[in-house]
Amino acid sequence: MESYKMFFAFLFVSSVNVQSYVISRQTSVSDGCARIYNEFIASQKIRFIYDDVKDCYENFPFDKDVASKTIDTLTGLIGGFYSFLDKAKEPPQPGFDFRSMDLIAELDLFRNKSYTTLHDFTKIKVFNDTIDRSNNDCEVTHIDGQQTFNVISDYAKNSVVFSRDPGVRFNIALGRAHVSFAIRNELPAKSYIIYTLKCNNTNDFNIKRNWTAFTSSTILNMFNDSKSYFNNICNHTKESLSSSFWRQEIAKIIDDINGILAEQDKSVTTIRIIDEFVDFFKVQDFGVVKIVTELPVALSDALLANVIQGFKFKDLANTGVKKIVLDLSDNVGGQLLVAVFFNLLLFPNTYPTFDFDIRISEQMKLAITEQFKLVTPDYIFDMRGYVNSKTHANFTSSDDFISNNVYTRGGIMGNYSNKYALSDSILNERIQFIQNLTTPLPWKSEDYIILTNGFCGSACAFIAEHAVEFNNVTTVVVEILGLLNNALMPKPFPLTGTFVNLPISEIYSKINPDEILEFSFRPAKFRLFYDEQNVRNISILWSQAAALIGSK
Ligand SMILES: *[C@@H]1O[C@H](CO)[C@@H](O)[C@H](O)[C@H]1NC(C)=O
Ligand SMILES: *[C@@H]1O[C@H](CO)[C@@H](O)[C@H](O)[C@H]1NC(C)=O
Ligand SMILES: *[C@@H]1O[C@H](CO)[C@@H](O)[C@H](O)[C@H]1NC(C)=O
Ligand SMILES: *[C@@H]1O[C@H](CO)[C@@H](O)[C@H](O)[C@H]1NC(C)=O
Ligand SMILES: *[C@@H]1O[C@H](CO)[C@@H](O)[C@H](O)[C@H]1NC(C)=O
Ligand SMILES: *[C@@H]1O[C@H](CO)[C@@H](O)[C@H](O)[C@H]1NC(C)=O
Ligand SMILES: *[C@@H]1O[C@H](CO)[C@@H](O)[C@H](O)[C@H]1NC(C)=O
Ligand SMILES: *[C@@H]1O[C@H](CO)[C@@H](O)[C@H](O)[C@H]1NC(C)=O
Ligand SMILES: *[C@@H]1O[C@H](CO)[C@@H](O)[C@H](O)[C@H]1NC(C)=O
Ligand SMILES: *[C@@H]1O[C@H](CO)[C@@H](O)[C@H](O)[C@H]1NC(C)=O
Ligand SMILES: *[C@@H]1O[C@H](CO)[C@@H](O)[C@H](O)[C@H]1NC(C)=O
Repeated sequence: MESYKMFFAFLFVSSVNVQSYVISRQTSVSDGCARIYNEFIASQKIRFIYDDVKDCYENFPFDKDVASKTIDTLTGLIGGFYSFLDKAKEPPQPGFDFRSMDLIAELDLFRNKSYTTLHDFTKIKVFNDTIDRSNNDCEVTHIDGQQTFNVISDYAKNSVVFSRDPGVRFNIALGRAHVSFAIRNELPAKSYIIYTLKCNNTNDFNIKRNWTAFTSSTILNMFNDSKSYFNNICNHTKESLSSSFWRQEIAKIIDDINGILAEQDKSVTTIRIIDEFVDFFKVQDFGVVKIVTELPVALSDALLANVIQGFKFKDLANTGVKKIVLDLSDNVGGQLLVAVFFNLLLFPNTYPTFDFDIRISEQMKLAITEQFKLVTPDYIFDMRGYVNSKTHANFTSSDDFISNNVYTRGGIMGNYSNKYALSDSILNERIQFIQNLTTPLPWKSEDYIILTNGFCGSACAFIAEHAVEFNNVTTVVVEILGLLNNALMPKPFPLTGTFVNLPISEIYSKINPDEILEFSFRPAKFRLFYDEQNVRNISILWSQAAALIGSK
């Protein structure tokens, strides 16, 4: 489950030395949000010090009523629409590590607060100390006086919200491109961290690093003090601040980092860059296709045609490369249809999607039934674009979709819909679209290797059939459907800036039709380990992956 709210402050350790502009700060302003705004206006800088962000957040008083209503809404959404409510009560399969839980009961506990827990072993080193580069590659033995490994694995276990695989969560905690131990979206408890380093077998020593906050200028243009921050960001009325916006913000940061790494490297030839979507490179004798997201900002057929061009004759295929590394690392996921597009383009001889079903709660039944009556299609509860996965026939009514399948999950008997799949007419239209633009690509499935660090959102996992997690994350918004006043339905969140992402459907393996992919542990065939070289030089990592193509 992906259920996070990205606040405006991405914080990270020691990335800039803030000293130079601390001097010019207008310390007379007591509102931290206003200080951030003033500094942005004065210098156009998008990085800020911890104390300002803390003051900014702390200007919003705790509102018990808002808090309790937020939990009420969350409980309603999860109870009514989260497909894995009961499945999540079952213990994990070997390989996964998560606390099986009754989410509703956990949320109740959260009303009064509480929390827990721990885990293996490895050496953790400094990747990039921008204040003192001689510390790079030194071992970090302790963080704030605790064993480094324990600190990072606690963080991975308790604060990383992606994936049920502990190894993946650990990778994410140490990642540098998205929310991680060093890049946070919540305010750390204090303004700095003390790292204990061991370098070149000398004695241990401590370094202190301040947190630095940063955000995009889009956000910085939306407030000038704490009042406007609260009204325009926490409780806004803007469509533009949807969860897609935040995902695209992450994709942008990741894309920038990759772009910079590839540009710096003379062994990498850039073939084509489709901003914040897909990048094509050639390295030695192989190609690299880096898919950053399946949620490009301006998705259109023209954009997809551009992707096809990237693969085709003028571009990657024309270079004559025989092998392709499909780099799906740090992929935030996106739209099902974009994933299907890639599957059809890359693997035209295989069925490009999976079968789904939905847990039918009373709320879900109501939502689907009402949506079936509406003329306007194209909403998450609209099942008319799907067909029965057995017969491939259209669903004739909501009852035909909902049916009466009872399965026991987590010891609870529940109703589940008929299994469904994307309609053949939609698939055929996509197939036609691709065929209109290109003949099949020259590579066969054995010429590709998928590189992932496990951070692979819903649609990304669609492409990486063997990836370790699989959730189709859908934002459930209850305002639509005119069901707002229905007593069964959760009330909207009290603050309009709040949202939650929930997978509303279960996705089944095609090979084992009863296996729910989100809860299946799929170890990768090969594992590569980050080391001092490949962590800084992406072409080394790509070469290591390419060398595995065709090996058993
Ligand atoms: C939360 O606190 C209230 C009193 O403040 C108490 O009655 C209730 O049992 C507590 N709930 C949980 C789940 O601990
Ligand atoms: C380390 O950080 C500096 C300053 O932000 C940046 O210029 C440099 O590219 C970074 N190095 C790596 C390997 O990321
Ligand atoms: C460790 O050794 C390298 C060269 O071997 C040197 O550049 C670096 O400054 C040393 N680091 C420390 C912290 O002494
Ligand atoms: C860290 O923050 C403290 C207090 O905010 C400040 O006095 C100090 O100069 C900062 N250190 C650096 C290296 O920026
Ligand atoms: C802050 O923005 C509001 C409108 O959002 C405007 O009325 C006000 O004048 C602005 N204040 C400053 C100091 O720019
Ligand atoms: C949030 O905004 C709505 C209007 O969009 C307003 O009615 C409501 O009072 C605001 N909530 C809070 C807690 O300020
Ligand atoms: C990365 O590694 C490759 C292959 O070893 C090398 O050719 C290239 O120069 C390296 N790039 C950088 C930026 O060090
Ligand atoms: C999966 O998510 C995408 C949006 O990200 C949505 O278009 C699609 O309908 C969802 N599929 C299912 C089966 O819920
Ligand atoms: C099934 O529904 C699609 C629209 O989603 C429609 O184009 C198609 O004609 C329908 N097929 C049948 C057999 O009714
Ligand atoms: C399943 O649905 C039927 C018909 O709506 C209902 O009577 C029954 O209580 C449901 N069973 C469960 C276990 O939810
Ligand atoms: C494919 O090309 C044909 C003939 O030019 C055209 O009629 C059709 O609309 C195209 N289909 C798609 C999905 O682009």
